[in-house]
Amino acid sequence: MNILPDANFFQKTMPQTEKNEYLLEVEHLSMTIERYEKGLNPIRQAVIRDFHLTIRKGEIIAIVGASGSGKSLLADAILGIQPKNAVVEGVLKYNNEPLSDKKKKELRGKEIMLIPQLTNALDPLMKVEKQVKSFLKIKNKRKLEEIFFQVGLDKKAMKQLPANLSGGMVRRVFAAMALASDAKLIIADEPTNGLDEEAANDMLRLLKMLAEQEKGIIFITHDIEAALKIADKIAVFYAGETVEIVARKHFIRGGAHLRHPYTKALWYALPQNGFQPFYPFQPSTTENSRGCQFVEHCPKAKTVCKERHPDLKTIHGGDKVRCFYA
Ligand SMILES: Nc1ncnc2c1ncn2[C@@H]1O[C@H](COP(=O)(O)OP(=O)(O)OP(=O)(O)O)[C@@H](O)[C@H]1O
Ligand code: SF4
Ligand SMILES: [Mg+2]
Repeated sequence: MNILPDANFFQKTMPQTEKNEYLLEVEHLSMTIERYEKGLNPIRQAVIRDFHLTIRKGEIIAIVGASGSGKSLLADAILGIQPKNAVVEGVLKYNNEPLSDKKKKELRGKEIMLIPQLTNALDPLMKVEKQVKSFLKIKNKRKLEEIFFQVGLDKKAMKQLPANLSGGMVRRVFAAMALASDAKLIIADEPTNGLDEEAANDMLRLLKMLAEQEKGIIFITHDIEAALKIADKIAVFYAGETVEIVARKHFIRGGAHLRHPYTKALWYALPQNGFQPFYPFQPSTTENSRGCQFVEHCPKAKTVCKERHPDLKTIHGGDKVRCFYA
């Protein structure tokens, strides 16, 4: 099996930092959204449940999940830009200090930056050159040109309004902003979506370049193969919760070494691993839902799986899995 012909190009050695020197720590993060069912009964939908993450400087963590699993809401929760009808709970620390809502607001767009999934987030009336320039501490034309060159945009593109750029080019503009800024943590939400293979690989190189500048990268994607090209760790997300967190070096050993039935199914759905189709729906859970979220699809499910919710447990080599029988 060779799923990564150019893996050596993309791989890097993670910087050796002190244990517990985390840039961001997230514990027990949850988000519930209040909405009304037929008959106007209010229900609280649990869109993120018991989410954990730690990330160090220079590290790339991929959050891999299907459409509707809650990935963008997770980014919103970390940034403090969740919908008005959402309640976010949990413990977040940034550089070892509590990350309160006030602190999130202070850091947003400065130390913590988003490369958004939607490409309409730029100011439509301002040339992109000016928008990137606003992130430079020292407004230097040569430096600005160098940044545009690094992200693969030419001088003509610099002078354009966002509406004249393709989705892929707009994402490069966001990467340019991240390069120009003092950002320490970058959340890239589906940055390769809709790009052809070459453009997607360019974007992955950009993320890796940002990581090499000691920035922590949370790379949100539905694409396992893209994640495996650059991520140090893969967090597999299903129905608003992490079901498995695996170091890349363990993940690429293959399906038999993966622990959670959902992660295994994703692996065997890859064309090079058998192409076994697998499209489970994302169950809609309320805060009172019981049992394992994956129970309806799981070949290993037992009675207890319908009654109790499994915790995320640490296994060999620091990987984590949320399953009673893994
Ligand atoms: N403002 C909102 N109010 C109510 N429900 C919402 C809101 N935003 C998202 N949701 C619901 O929350 C769930 C997760 O949405 P989210 O956009 O985070 O998914 P995603 O994993 O990013 O999907 P995709 O891969 O398609 O981008 C979905 O069921 C979605 O319909
Ligand atoms: S806890 Fe049970 S239902 Fe859930 S993944 Fe494990 S075996 Fe399957
Ligand atoms: Mg999304």
